[in-house]
Amino acid sequence: MIELPASMPRDSKGAYAYLGSVVTPGIHDLELIVLLEAAGEASYQGMANAAPNAKVRELLELNGKEELDHANRVIEAIRILYGKSVRLPPPEYNPFYIVPKIDALSKDMLEKAVGGELAGEKMYNDWADRIDNEEAAKLLRLNAIEEHRHADRDSAAIQLM
Ligand SMILES: [Fe+2]
Ligand SMILES: [Fe+2]
Repeated sequence: MIELPASMPRDSKGAYAYLGSVVTPGIHDLELIVLLEAAGEASYQGMANAAPNAKVRELLELNGKEELDHANRVIEAIRILYGKSVRLPPPEYNPFYIVPKIDALSKDMLEKAVGGELAGEKMYNDWADRIDNEEAAKLLRLNAIEEHRHADRDSAAIQLM
């Protein structure tokens, strides 16, 4: 189970704000990302549930599924960097895992998602540049590439609204 230090935020907004200040990630930062990526599936599921049509729903569900892949890549990076094996946490052990109840999905929500994905792309690339292990850096760069693809899918969904 992932045990975050008491000083770390337990809400997504606070966690993302905190991560914006991290220059070179340590193990707890990477563990925080594992939780947030796993929770990303829930955020996308909430949006997908409120999608106005099947195509938008499909795009959002695809993004959500890949957030779990991102969590697993960061778990692998932790193993490479620290020799620690971390398990993907079940939702009940993840304080960030909340499926939002959305009445009607708006373009505004999807635009915010685009911004979040592009910020995620930048964070992963910045971290990959700073960690001193090429194998782990490669995993973070793969996540960055997919965060960009998520932003593209969210933009495509906006066009389909
Ligand atoms: Fe992700
Ligand atoms: Fe993403």
